[in-house]
Amino acid sequence: MPRTAITGTGFYVPDRVVTNEELTRYMDTSDEWIVERTGIQERRWVREGMSGAEMARRASLDALQDAGMEPGDLDAIVLATLSPDHFLPGTGVFLQRELGITDIPAIDLRAQCSGFVYGLSVADAFIRAGQYRNILLVGVEIQSTGLDLSTRGRDIAVLFGDGAGAAVLSATEEEGRGVLSTHLHADGRHAEVLWAEFSSSKHHPRITAEAMAEGRHYPTMDGREVFRNAVSRMPEVVEEALAANGLTTADIDLLVPHQANLRISEMVRRRLDLPEEKVVNNIQRYGNTTAATIPIALAEAVDDGRVHPGDLVCLVAFGSGFTWGAVLLRW
Ligand code: UT7
Repeated sequence: MPRTAITGTGFYVPDRVVTNEELTRYMDTSDEWIVERTGIQERRWVREGMSGAEMARRASLDALQDAGMEPGDLDAIVLATLSPDHFLPGTGVFLQRELGITDIPAIDLRAQCSGFVYGLSVADAFIRAGQYRNILLVGVEIQSTGLDLSTRGRDIAVLFGDGAGAAVLSATEEEGRGVLSTHLHADGRHAEVLWAEFSSSKHHPRITAEAMAEGRHYPTMDGREVFRNAVSRMPEVVEEALAANGLTTADIDLLVPHQANLRISEMVRRRLDLPEEKVVNNIQRYGNTTAATIPIALAEAVDDGRVHPGDLVCLVAFGSGFTWGAVLLRW
């Protein structure tokens, strides 16, 4: 049975840097509060006219180049986002078109911050089943156009950023290489802890002027509840993945956690008893780009020479839904 290897990584972030200082112009917040509570120093926001599909295209071409492949070599696209360019169709087909290819399936996946880990699990199943050999997996997010930049929305607005990350996944028969296992979870009892109520197909019309005036189209979050669950679920699912493979935390060479909050990553690291150099953190520069954080962080780690053949790499995510999961792979 073939296994899934990551043969190329890439990312794209908009060139517009938004500092904490800039946010103080829009809302009652401070650089000190944001840095102390989240670790974030700046994030990227798109300029008018940039789409998720275009960011995804740039990240994808970077990943394809890294893999030594062309768009035409792909058998399928899996794209994870909570901020699609349009309600319909999904961003996946726009990306396919932007890449200049046709015919191959484009699968859109909605698992919020866990989108990349969920997507990797879906792609891995296709590859192990022998259905596809080369899959492009993308996490892309434009959060900036959907944030409440008034003081009312400050708990969320300071966290999120825009960006795209991509990975080329290829079937490999190479002994000991590739995805060892994937572990996905969800608990819908917490669906409204971090959510956006509108626009909603439950309502006719899907959005009203009153709902917008009340800001009900903006995401809302019980930050403490998310935090509390994230710091227990992430270490738990990493341990689950390790146990499934007869491994321990000492075997991990690199942990790439979803970048939600530097304090969350730090607590996860301590609970797993990992040294700092084994955990990737770049939230300081990009904020939380949701489905894009893990592929961006992974691509940067590869660029920085932090991943070597044979390394045991663990990806772990937690987010809205709640959804969470981990992937263990041998580089
Ligand atoms: O991928 C999943 C996405 N979400 C997350 O991972 C979020 C997880 N949660 C968190 O990261 C943290 O809960 C936050 C960073 C969102 C908040 O940090 P906290 O330490 O839990 O603060 P808090 O919510 O308890 O708020 C403390 C105070 C409040 O004021 P009072 O009631 O004590 O007067 C907030 O109103 O901080 C206030 N506050 C702010 N102050 C300045 C909330 N947001 C801000 C802000 N600037 N941006």
